[in-house]
Amino acid sequence: MTFSSQYPQKRMRRNRRDDFSRRLVRENHLRVDDLIYPVFVLDGHKQEEQVASMPGVVRQSVDLLLFQAEQCLRLGIPALAIFPVVDASLKTLTADEAYNPDGLVPRAVRELKKRFPELGIITDVALDPYTSHGQDGLIDDNGYVLNDETVAVLRKQALAHAQAGADIVAPSDMMDGRIAAIRATLDQDYCIHTRILAYSAKYASSFYGPFRDAVGSAAMLGAGNKYTYQMDPANSNEALWEVGLDIQEGADMVMVKPGLPYLDIVRRVKDEFGVPAFVYQVSGEYAMLKAAAMNGWLDEKACVTEALLSFKRAGADAILTYFAPVVAGWLQENS
Ligand code: PBG
Repeated sequence: MTFSSQYPQKRMRRNRRDDFSRRLVRENHLRVDDLIYPVFVLDGHKQEEQVASMPGVVRQSVDLLLFQAEQCLRLGIPALAIFPVVDASLKTLTADEAYNPDGLVPRAVRELKKRFPELGIITDVALDPYTSHGQDGLIDDNGYVLNDETVAVLRKQALAHAQAGADIVAPSDMMDGRIAAIRATLDQDYCIHTRILAYSAKYASSFYGPFRDAVGSAAMLGAGNKYTYQMDPANSNEALWEVGLDIQEGADMVMVKPGLPYLDIVRRVKDEFGVPAFVYQVSGEYAMLKAAAMNGWLDEKACVTEALLSFKRAGADAILTYFAPVVAGWLQENS
């Protein structure tokens, strides 16, 4: 045997040997600047409810949400994404509450922007919290979600959010043509600074289950599904097509959702377009990690950090995660 065949040609482990050199060659980092915190807001005063399938996550009234917002600001989290829990009595076939300028979301936005103007506020543009059937749009007699009729309502909803002071409106409905329509509506009313975060590659995922419990749309949706508008989990090229259209239509940032099962999509989107690409670690991903951690089966801090870092490695610029404040706390401890 020759000398050279007894030894590895290159010792990759040399850089891994010590903490200092592992730090020097580390390619990706998770920072507080990467985090967006999704929150559930309720009507009323001093109201707080636990979300059963998402331990540690609450629905709360705006007065209590202000404390969370203050905490986020203190931790350095750049933005909150608000999701409303709408009273069943306000849900209708035509989703009129979605564009009520004095509805829960516009009121929450006004309060938050008044108290914390420097905290970014993102609102969800979709009709599912407001429809009596839990679909993201208006339906015909057969239950099919109507595209153009829905977009007409989404325009009004986005405008109500923007006029209340939302910094970013985020259409999560997956109707065709909604980005261009919303951009035109916003521009006509001089909301030229309002950014659009397009949920471009939003899959018809079963990982949204706990979220639908949290906002109370699960009961409305019943056995219904969203297969005629959200994307088939089997598809990848189609995601690029969607993203390309949304960019053309005026999106300022695009999103891939869910996160961990769709890392390949994040990478393809980033490589193909190079635009700001966000990813949503959705409710089911949170529930899985949390359940395992609570059972002592996984180390919460290590596994959550690893999952979030994987989004960065895949090319994501920002991450919507229910772990945001917890992670921001860990990052502060480490710095
Ligand atoms: C609905 C909406 C959903 C989520 C965000 N906005 C659920 C759905 O499409 O049914 C899911 C988020 C999560 O699971 O954390 N417009």
